[in-house]
Amino acid sequence: MTTDIKKGLAGVFADVTAISKVDPEINSLVYRGYPVQELAATQPFEAVAYLLWNGELPTDEQLAELRAIEHANRALSPAVKDLIDAMPVDSHPMDEVRTVVSLLGAIDTAGIDNVLDAVGTPAENLDRSIRLFAALPAVIAYGQRRRHGDELIEPRDDLDYAANFLWMTFGEEADPAVVDAFNRSMVLYAEHSFNASTFTARVIASTLSDLYSAVVGAIGALKGPLHGGANEAVLHVFTEIGSAENVGAWLDEALAAKRKIMGFGHRVYKRGDSRVPTMKAALDTLVAHYDRPDVAELYDTLESEFVARKGIYPNLDYPSGPAYSLMGFDTLTFTPLFIAARVTGWTAHIMEQQASNALIRPLSAYDGPDERHIDGYVPDA
Ligand code: ACO
Repeated sequence: MTTDIKKGLAGVFADVTAISKVDPEINSLVYRGYPVQELAATQPFEAVAYLLWNGELPTDEQLAELRAIEHANRALSPAVKDLIDAMPVDSHPMDEVRTVVSLLGAIDTAGIDNVLDAVGTPAENLDRSIRLFAALPAVIAYGQRRRHGDELIEPRDDLDYAANFLWMTFGEEADPAVVDAFNRSMVLYAEHSFNASTFTARVIASTLSDLYSAVVGAIGALKGPLHGGANEAVLHVFTEIGSAENVGAWLDEALAAKRKIMGFGHRVYKRGDSRVPTMKAALDTLVAHYDRPDVAELYDTLESEFVARKGIYPNLDYPSGPAYSLMGFDTLTFTPLFIAARVTGWTAHIMEQQASNALIRPLSAYDGPDERHIDGYVPDA
């Protein structure tokens, strides 16, 4: 048998999708046909979630309906709060969110006693997707508050998704400029075709497992610093460097040690990530709002020096890390924010996989020992 190994599945088209298209040649990303920049500039995140799930932007009535369900499912349930409180206060928030999604799945699918029913109907899975998207902000917000020894803050019914998320995290109403930057980040992070976490979700869905199991697996894939964990890692790099004048010496050392510089590079985009200019503009707004030109200086210096030396461009995690930091999120909370956004894309892909399923099961080429045998083993007659 001939084998043509595509290490890391690089360059492999694994299936078709109608949810988003990444075109690195023209540096574009569209969700259901709409350029992501236009969506980020004009749409609330809830409308983009609706678009990803349903294929069209919502009418005013459909958006109001989605928001009503989102509002009804925002509060942390006692069972979820107890579970979070049972975890060590210094557990990584990615592990907390992953564990909570597992519990939500166990509660939601209780009573299903035949594994053939685990997959659920399309209507059930859309409903589960919306409720999961609604439930996660409180989990993430409370996770950050708990690490500071602060009390849970209940959601506010008069605030939409982004403003309420910031309210539940910080206990004060955010400035509209901050809400807008946060909303844009959620839109930009929502979907990105067959990235590692989405593909993980599709692999799990392809076995006809349930939606929650697929999301739990996706969270595990997102945690790694080569994927979503990079937004957290970017801030560790910023902290290590300290200020713009240290960039040159820091880079000399990091590159001599063959370190990967977090927030740079991408498997698909080789000439720049289509989402970066929009997120960089949001970061610039935050830099002005919080009067932190030092952050922009460090950002710009590291970017220009690294690009000049390696020709490798920033990805979305590069501007989003410092943006979330300026908003007041803990560094450890950054990747969970990515979950809150990407759960919309994941669930859209899970439903797409279920609608046209083929078990995902590639081949492997073997290069282990030649066949050998256990001493003294005598096969049964
Ligand atoms: N810093 C230093 N060198 C890099 C970087 C980087 N960030 N990215 C790529 N390179 C170099 C590699 O060392 C390699 O060099 P070599 O050929 O001399 O060995 C070459 O560029 C190719 O890199 P690969 O890792 O093989 O490219 P791949 O397409 O597999 O990697 C990846 C993409 C994993 C994202 C990589 O660029 C990386 O590790 N970046 C840092 C982590 C990161 O920011 N991840 C976020 C991804 S985007 C997102 O999830 C929103």
